[in-house]
Amino acid sequence: MTFDAQLTAVAERVERRLADFLSGNRGPSAPPRRLAEAMRYAALGGGKRLRPFLLAESAALFGVKLENALDAAAALECIHTYSLVHDDLPAMDDDALRRGRETVHIAYDEATAILAGDGLLTLAFEILARPQTHSDPAVRGELILGLSRAAGWAGMAGGQSLDLEAEGKTLRADEIRHLQALKTGALIEYACGAGAVLGRAAGQDRAALDAFGRSLGQAFQLADDLLDVTGDEIKLGKRTGKDGDAGKATLVSVFGIEKARSELERLEGEAIVALERFGDRAETLKNTARFVSRREH
Ligand code: IPE
Ligand code: IPE
Ligand code: MG
Ligand code: MG
Ligand code: MG
Repeated sequence: MTFDAQLTAVAERVERRLADFLSGNRGPSAPPRRLAEAMRYAALGGGKRLRPFLLAESAALFGVKLENALDAAAALECIHTYSLVHDDLPAMDDDALRRGRETVHIAYDEATAILAGDGLLTLAFEILARPQTHSDPAVRGELILGLSRAAGWAGMAGGQSLDLEAEGKTLRADEIRHLQALKTGALIEYACGAGAVLGRAAGQDRAALDAFGRSLGQAFQLADDLLDVTGDEIKLGKRTGKDGDAGKATLVSVFGIEKARSELERLEGEAIVALERFGDRAETLKNTARFVSRREH
């Protein structure tokens, strides 16, 4: 199977699982229809599902079947999707296009987009807390602890705050790396670490996956920032050229395109090296690093 086919196969399973979780219970505790619709609109029918893929493939290194990683993977995608809904809001990046469609605040309204984000954020933790996610409550606790740290004030939300604060300012490369490690790196590193938690990986294996996730997270945002300058709007499903317009602090703005490209190659190599101890078993994860640095969407 090609890498693209592998990614698509997992994405389809994640899509179905998300659709199950978002189908909305009927009866007296059914969620309000408009909010439920906006959450489905945000979460279904698009996205690479890269974070769920990383979680599933990291777990697979330790013999965990996709089926048994799927709920944790869907929970992580709920957090990622919420982060996109809020990232696109007028008060943040003010974007009208996402995953090839109108953003949630355009298709619905701003308050509904805020609440859809809130709903997806909390749904993620509801999913992780369910006994169906893992039979061992200690494993569930570890997954929840890790995700709350990765998504919260010292993780993604913190990074988004630094990203907005940096608009129009000139940051040093190390400051940009820090900001990006939080806003994007934290969830990507979590994806790899959560696979290790599900697989009850030993300390050194866990550390190797964390290192992989850190390099991959940096590579992922650098590729995103390059695509904002050089990418195709149709393929990306979002507007390009917006970082320059907003005065975002990115490594592309500091390094220029050529140096940013070679930095991306360096990070791809660094991510692959982190997986050496797993040998051929980690081929799919290594291919994920190759995909991330060469992607066009
Ligand atoms: C976009 O993430 C936001 C960033 C962290 C750069 P993705 O490129 O993974 O977006 P989807 O989920 O595929 O739409
Ligand atoms: C977003 O980074 C990171 C998130 C935590 C959502 P960007 O603002 O660069 O993502 P895009 O380009 O809008 O997808
Ligand atoms: Mg942003
Ligand atoms: Mg944005
Ligand atoms: Mg971007």
